Amino acid sequence: MKLAPSILAADFGHFERDAKRLEQAGADYLHIDIMDGHFVDNISFGADVVKAIRPATKCLLDCHLMVENPEKYVTTFAQAGADSLSIHVEATRHIHAALQKIKEVGLRSSVVINPGTDVSSIRQVLGLVDMVLVMTVNPGFGGQTFIPECLKKVAELVEIRTAEGLTFEIEVDGGVDDQTIVACRQAGADVFVAGSFVFNGNVEANMAKLRAALKG
Ligand code: DX5
Ligand code: ZN
Repeated sequence: MKLAPSILAADFGHFERDAKRLEQAGADYLHIDIMDGHFVDNISFGADVVKAIRPATKCLLDCHLMVENPEKYVTTFAQAGADSLSIHVEATRHIHAALQKIKEVGLRSSVVINPGTDVSSIRQVLGLVDMVLVMTVNPGFGGQTFIPECLKKVAELVEIRTAEGLTFEIEVDGGVDDQTIVACRQAGADVFVAGSFVFNGNVEANMAKLRAALKG
């Protein structure tokens, strides 16, 4: 099981310092939330921030693209040093082609579903992806309340993965803390994104709380 702290909740003046700190504190992936102000009602940062963080850490850079037509930016993020690109099925008319493009540039590919989107909408691309990201809040902002109903989709994905002999990881994102992470684990998630919980207080102590909750 992997922890993927989100730098959306970090100090925007010190991304490099915070990336190093998260790695030291046991982060497996660094989750980087890219928002374009169109797909979601918020603008965060772009590929240049990925480029700035890249030399600071060996952690896998798990870039979550909350942008319209993400296929346009695949090459840019690959050149910036991203390891994995997560794109929303709701954000492109050509999810299969977009995921193929990610594989072509040599990155890990991941498909994302919003709380209002069913697993059936990504059924045809499950064989193409390294990861499925199940949103447990509506995307756009950190610090929102976890939506427990989304975990049914995690369980459904575990079943499909087993039945079809697939190997994709299942990531959950939004409202994850040391309580909700337990339900996520029980549903079968493999990768856990947490932003505000990690940065609210002592980063090292909060990462340790999440790790302990996963073991408990
Ligand atoms: C929400 C983002 C999340 C966010 C999580 O749109 O995709 O990754 O940073 O933040 P918390 O953990 O505060 O819900
Ligand atoms: Zn995210």
